[in-house]
Amino acid sequence: METTIRKIDKGQAWEIRHEVMWSDKPFDYIKLEDDDLGIHFGLFKEKMLISVISLFIANEEAQFRKFATLQKEQGKGYGSKLLEAVLEEAKIHGVKRIWCNARQNKVDFYKKFGLRETNSSFIKDGKSYVIMEKNL
Ligand SMILES: CC(C)(COP(=O)(O)OP(=O)(O)OC[C@H]1O[C@@H](n2cnc3c(N)ncnc32)[C@H](O)[C@@H]1OP(=O)(O)O)[C@@H](O)C(=O)NCCC(=O)NCCS
Repeated sequence: METTIRKIDKGQAWEIRHEVMWSDKPFDYIKLEDDDLGIHFGLFKEKMLISVISLFIANEEAQFRKFATLQKEQGKGYGSKLLEAVLEEAKIHGVKRIWCNARQNKVDFYKKFGLRETNSSFIKDGKSYVIMEKNL
């Protein structure tokens, strides 16, 4: 299946974020104050946007946030492709350390990309998160 990864605008990221992550909350819930500072990436299958992720670079560190693949397209390797591309992109920008707030049920998934759990964890909106990181 033909896929392409390219930068998208925040509005495109919002659509997928909302549908996948918090469809039961108002649309504005998935917007981030920092979205104007982020670089948003999308994976397209044919012409359809199916997976998104947002990268926030601050000096030599970067956080990726709001990673989401449309439910019916999950488990087919698209998210992995997108995450690999974002790790490469961060490297190109001179990022030395990348991190994320990982949903507890995604820890094993991120380990496949070399991210390691830190000892910082928290609960937000009833979901458990752990901070994971990787040196690039
Ligand atoms: C996290 C998320 C973005 C991953 O996207 P995805 O497109 O499903 O990612 P992939 O398909 O590459 O990988 C998902 C799983 O499918 C497996 N997989 C990948 N390609 C596969 C294939 N061809 N056949 C079978 N399994 C495959 C991966 O190994 C992975 O397994 P794991 O979860 O047991 O580690 C997606 O699950 C999602 O949107 N979840 C809801 C929102 C969320 O939790 N976001 C992350 C917050 S930290």
